[in-house]
This record gives sequence, C-alpha cells and structure tokens, in this order.
Amino acid sequence: MSALALLGGKKAKGNAFPVWPYYDKNEEQALKEVLESRVWWRTPGTKTLEFERAFAEFHGARHGIAVTNGTAALEVTMAGLGITAGDEVIVPDFTFVATASAVLFANALPVLVDVDPETYCIDPDLVEAAITPRTKAIIAVHMGGHPADLDRLKQIASRKRLALVEDSAHAHASEWRGQRVGTFGVAGTFSFQSSKLITAGEGGIIISNDDKFEVQARSVHDCGRMPGEWFYSHFRYGSNYRLSEWQGAILNVQLSRLDEQTKRRHQNSRLLDRLLCEIPGITPQKLDERCTRNGQYAYIFHVNKKEFAGLSTERFIEAMNAEGIPNQASYPPLHKLHMFRNGEYRKRLSGKQAKEKHAFLGKKFPVTHKAAWETVWIPQPALLGDEEDMHEIAAGLGKVQKNAKELA
Ligand SMILES: Cc1ncc(COP(=O)(O)O)c(C=O)c1O
Repeated sequence: MSALALLGGKKAKGNAFPVWPYYDKNEEQALKEVLESRVWWRTPGTKTLEFERAFAEFHGARHGIAVTNGTAALEVTMAGLGITAGDEVIVPDFTFVATASAVLFANALPVLVDVDPETYCIDPDLVEAAITPRTKAIIAVHMGGHPADLDRLKQIASRKRLALVEDSAHAHASEWRGQRVGTFGVAGTFSFQSSKLITAGEGGIIISNDDKFEVQARSVHDCGRMPGEWFYSHFRYGSNYRLSEWQGAILNVQLSRLDEQTKRRHQNSRLLDRLLCEIPGITPQKLDERCTRNGQYAYIFHVNKKEFAGLSTERFIEAMNAEGIPNQASYPPLHKLHMFRNGEYRKRLSGKQAKEKHAFLGKKFPVTHKAAWETVWIPQPALLGDEEDMHEIAAGLGKVQKNAKELA
C-alpha cells in the first residue's frame, strides 16, 4: 500500500491542530455583560471604545477607529484621505481584492504593481516607477504577516508627498525593526474576520497617529457626524461603519491573548523554516532581518513542481490535507480578476480616467503569477500548535515529496 494518506496510507498527522476561533469563559462572560447591559450598539457603549483604545495602544498608535470589517477599514481610510475621482493609488497585484476594491469604491484607480520575489510584498522599485502626477497614495500589504519594506516605502512616500497606508489585515502584532506595523504611514488597517489573528467573526479597525486624518476618518465611519455635536448634524459624506458592542467585547478578550499567540506562531514558523529547508523543492517566504516579529497569518512556501514529479498545486494541497495538514491555495493575481478583464472596474471611474488605456493591465506580473499559482499557505491556527506539530508538518511534506510520483 502507498505511504500517502491520499492513496490509503497512514496520515502524517494523527491528532488535530488547535481549533480556531479560540474562546473560553472570558468571551462568554464578556458577551453576557453586553447582553445584560442592554447597550448593544457602539454609540453609547464602552466595549468598542475600550477596544479601539487598547488595540491602538498595543500597536503604538494614538487613535483607533473600529469598523465593520477590514474592507470597510480601507474604504473609510480612502475617504479620510480625500481620495477621489481622477486619483491613482498604487496597490500590489498580489493581495485580496479588498485592497484594490476600496480604491475603486472611492472612484479612484488602483494601479497594480508586482511584488518582491522573496517576501511577496509590494516591490518598492516598481512603486517608484508607477508614480504619476495623479498618484495620491500607496497601499502596502503585509503578506501573510510579513511587513512590506517599510524603510523604502516610507522614504518614497515622504519624498513624493504620498500617503502610505498599511493594509495589515494579516499582520496584527507584526514588527519592523521593533516597531509594530500600522504606524509607519498615515494609517494602518486590520481585519477581524473569522480566519484572522484575533476575531469577532467580522470586524476591522483603522489605527493612526495623524490627528487630522483621524478626525476625517472617524466622521466618515459615523455618518459624517462630529464628536460632541448634535446627533443629527452631518458634516460630510459618511456612512454607518460602526462596530457593535458584541464584537468590541469579544475583541477585548481576544486582544489579551494576541501577544502570547504571536510569539508562539513566530517561533513555530522559525522552526518550520529550518525543517522545510531540508525538503527538496520547498522555499519558505523569506524573513527579512528587519522583520523582528511576524504575526504569521499564514506560513507561506513555494513549491517547485520539478521536485514533486510535476504535481499540480491543487493535487499537492489535496495530498497535504489528506495527511491531516491544513493548507490552502493563495490569492489569484488581481489583474486576472473578471472585473479587470471585462472592464467592469471602469464603471467606478469617471471622465478621462474611465476611458483611457490603463497600461498596467498589459504588464506581466511574473512574481505575482508565481506567488499566486505556486505558493501554498498553512493557515495560522496550525502555527499555534507545539514543536511536535511542526515536526509532523515537515514529516507530512517530506512524505508527499518522496512519493509525489505516485500522484502525478
Ligand atoms: C490583505 C487583505 N486586505 C483586506 C481584507 C478585507 O478584510 P475583511 O474580510 O474583514 O473585509 C482581507 C481579508 O481577508 C485581506 O486579506
């Protein structure tokens, strides 16, 4: 019989990995308190307010604005920055759609650029090359928790007078040179959707040290209101992006575990770096030495097919999952999404910008292509296991590599 679990062999991983979302009696208590207080919404509440302050402080920011999700955090940030029709915002091609759709929501054009071949984060040289007189902002994505090159991006943004936004949906508690992400530019945005590093099922936050931006963004997230003013005065266009008290209450508890969980994920991932390097054809995402802590939303690695008997990424994932090791495919390149190929995105634009040729869509994006179709992600709950779990992940991967011929 084959050694591979997919072909009837014994699984590499016998017992289960930690479950996610994790909760205990503290979440139960927090929810009960909200229930019994009968204050379930943000405006008169204390839980979401408390969370905003604690999360911002944890990341070294003066301000936190909790919102309904990570996509909303980007949308409110665009509005808070005054991004509007005719503007351009530089965005990596390799990311979740929200990074670009938030720019379109502001009626501006997301200009897609390729990513770094080792970290899979936005390539600063390509950012520089994509700047035009219409460029207003750069959105960096900290892929899988690994910060983009914040030294270079900060320098480019300040030299060209552009706003730097950190889409930190994967990177709660990640650090660059000892400083937590989200505070290197004007704003950092985070998601609390179910798979994220702390969660309330859905949710998001914007953090910032820019007082002027904070006033704008907070107002946008609350129907254009201003703190201290009459409830029915609306000073600018805004919408209702407020986070409920239920979510604020849960997130306070989740935040109390973040530091310890991040340490565990970071350490386990370094062990995986050492173990996986021994397996032919596996190249883990690089850890830049300036990344002093990686939140590790995922452990990302490249699989060289040649060392796996030409196995497709889909089949590789199937084989690993059968071994009891959760792993998944990556994001498709944004420029390949239907909305960019069929021209639908243009409906969000106006004037000359809606009609002209967008040259970036004709580019090749070779690194994103490789990252999208050839990398595999081990999701973060597995990284909360112990050392033995990491050895089992490596053993499972080694087994798939040795026996790949049987699957090809
Ligand atoms: C990089 C990135 N940005 C933004 C988001 C949007 O977050 P949400 O799902 O909370 O809207 C996600 C969600 O997965 C993401 O991965």
